[in-house]
Amino acid sequence: MAHRAVYNFALPSLAIARPPDALMTRCSLLLTNILAACLLSGLAASPAFAKGDAARGKTLAYTCTGCHGIVEYKNAYPSYRVPKIGGQNEGYIVAALHDYKRGERNHPTMTAQARSFSDQDIADIAAYLSGLKAK
Ligand code: HEC
Repeated sequence: MAHRAVYNFALPSLAIARPPDALMTRCSLLLTNILAACLLSGLAASPAFAKGDAARGKTLAYTCTGCHGIVEYKNAYPSYRVPKIGGQNEGYIVAALHDYKRGERNHPTMTAQARSFSDQDIADIAAYLSGLKAK
């Protein structure tokens, strides 16, 4: 476990050693995750995504706006970057939340959030968020 965490973080940071800006880090992370999301959605035959109830997701996602600022992609804490999730691909959001829930991906707040949700909650939240239009 400890070894795995070390390699996971060491590889991307080596890969971006030449153009060392935050955007590149974000991009390579995103690409990795998008790839993972594609693999997952292919394997899962996707019924979990289709059943998301956006209206229910809206109430569940209420607390997310404080950090993610959803529509306009602004956040309450300018000192660190919070990824844009409003209008994000539905399968990507589902995969990201399940990654946090399983501990494949680690961030204290997001892990705690994801663990408090059932699979249905995650599907509903993703249905709601993916339907938002980013400005
Ligand atoms: C306390 C601030 C905070 C709150 C509240 C919060 N998030 Fe996050 N979220 C973050 C941060 C910071 C990250 C980036 C963490 C990382 O690098 O893994 C993140 C990452 C994510 C990601 C992955 C995005 C990506 O581009 O890979 C998703 C999806 C997400 N959050 C959904 C949610 C949802 C849904 C809620 C509400 C239920 C929520 N978040 C509430 C701070 C927050």
